[in-house]
Order: sequence, then C-alpha cells, then structure tokens
Amino acid sequence: MKTPTRPLAIGLLVVAFFALVLGRAQAGGSHYFPPVADPVVKEECGSCHLAFAPSMLPASSWQRMMDKLKNHFGDDASLDPAVAAKITEYLVNNAADTGGRRHSDKLLRGVSASNAPLRITELPKWVKEHRKVPDWEWKHKDVRTKANCAACHSDAERGYYED
Ligand code: HEC
Ligand code: HEC
Repeated sequence: MKTPTRPLAIGLLVVAFFALVLGRAQAGGSHYFPPVADPVVKEECGSCHLAFAPSMLPASSWQRMMDKLKNHFGDDASLDPAVAAKITEYLVNNAADTGGRRHSDKLLRGVSASNAPLRITELPKWVKEHRKVPDWEWKHKDVRTKANCAACHSDAERGYYED
C-alpha cells in the first residue's frame, strides 16, 4: 500500500536542497558580481538603469563606452569631463579583466577582452545563460528590456544572479 507521506518527504528534501544552494550563493558563492561601491558611479550610472557591475565587462568596453556618453545606446548620458574621468577609472579598475574576478572569466568566455561588446547582454555567455527565457518574458510589461536585470534577478542590486 502506498503511503501518502512519501511525496511530502521528497518535497521537504527539495526545499532543503534549495535552501542550501541559496545559502551558499548569499555567502558570496557561485554567481556574485560585486555591485558598484562608489557613490558617484552609483548615482550617475544607476539613474536610468541598474548600475551594472564593472566586473561584467572588460576594461576596454568601459573605456569605449565612457568615450562616447553623448550617444549612449541612443541616450545622451554625457557628464562633466572630470566626473567622467573618475567614473572611468573606477570601472576600469574593477573591470572583468583587471579586477581578477573568478566569475567574470566565465562570463567573458569566447570574447577577446580587447574586442568585447559594449553590452553585457551581447556577451555570448550571457546569451547562452538566457536562451531558455521565452520571448513573452522579455516582452512582459515588468521586464521590457534585457538590460532590466533586476526584474528577474531580485538581488541584482546586491550583486547576486542566482535565479
Ligand atoms: C540618461 C540615461 C542613462 C544614463 C545616465 C546611463 N545609461 Fe547606460 N543605458 C541607457 C540606455 C537607454 C541603455 C540601453 C538599455 C536597453 O537596451 O534597454 C543603456 C545601456 C547600458 C549598458 C548595456 C546594457 C546591456 O544591454 O548589457 C551598459 C553597460 C550601460 N548602460 C552602462 C552605463 C554606465 C557605465 C553609465 C554611467 C556612466 C550609464 N550607463 C548611464 C541609459 C543611460
Ligand atoms: C526575463 C528575465 C531575466 C532578465 C531580464 C535577466 N535575466 Fe539573467 N537569468 C535569467 C534566467 C531565467 C537565468 C537562468 C537561471 C538558471 O539557469 O539557473 C539567468 C541567468 C543569469 C546568470 C547566470 C546565473 C546562473 O545561475 O547560472 C547571470 C550571471 C545573469 N543571468 C545575469 C543577468 C544580467 C547581468 C542581466 C541584465 C543585464 C540579466 N541577467 C537579465 C533571467 C533573466
């Protein structure tokens, strides 16, 4: 005779497993990209979208991006040159290929650091990680754009990208 308690036991096991995995991620484990810590960068680069983690792109991408803020993906994001220089310095010093972050290596797989795209969302590894996300989800009114990381990664602000 089948006992009805068995599925419940499996359910509890699964919950325990997720708690374990999440616990590890929160402790700085698998998919942590240190968030912007500099208040100026946070303010100037976090007003239109999430202040993207510098370790998600190589230094050359940040450099190129900061050189043409006047046309920033169609927006004018230009800044006082002195402020821009400080922000560039921060981004470059914490970039994927200069900060020496372990997880950036994976994210940058398949791109040369000197010829990387300006978009995180165009890195081959990013595309691969997101290929299972259905079209309707990208178009959902709460998402709208791939750059809206925090819509799906509720802890993106703190640097965690476990889903
Ligand atoms: C005036 C608004 C505005 C400001 C200020 C701004 N951005 Fe953006 N940024 C945008 C827009 C618009 C996009 C394109 C978003 C999209 O594709 O949906 C974008 C996209 C990006 C992307 C690419 C996201 C992707 O698709 O991977 C990066 C990286 C980025 N911005 C970095 C920065 C940095 C660094 C700063 C600060 C110097 C900054 N942004 C300031 C408007 C802004
Ligand atoms: C429409 C929802 C959605 C948006 C928007 C989104 N992601 Fe994701 N992301 C996902 C899903 C789903 C996964 C796959 C999770 C898995 O397989 O464990 C994922 C995986 C990831 C991973 C790998 C983590 C892992 O567990 O393997 C990273 C890193 C990541 N996303 C970063 C980003 C960044 C950065 C942005 C914004 C530029 C972004 N995501 C925008 C849904 C989204």
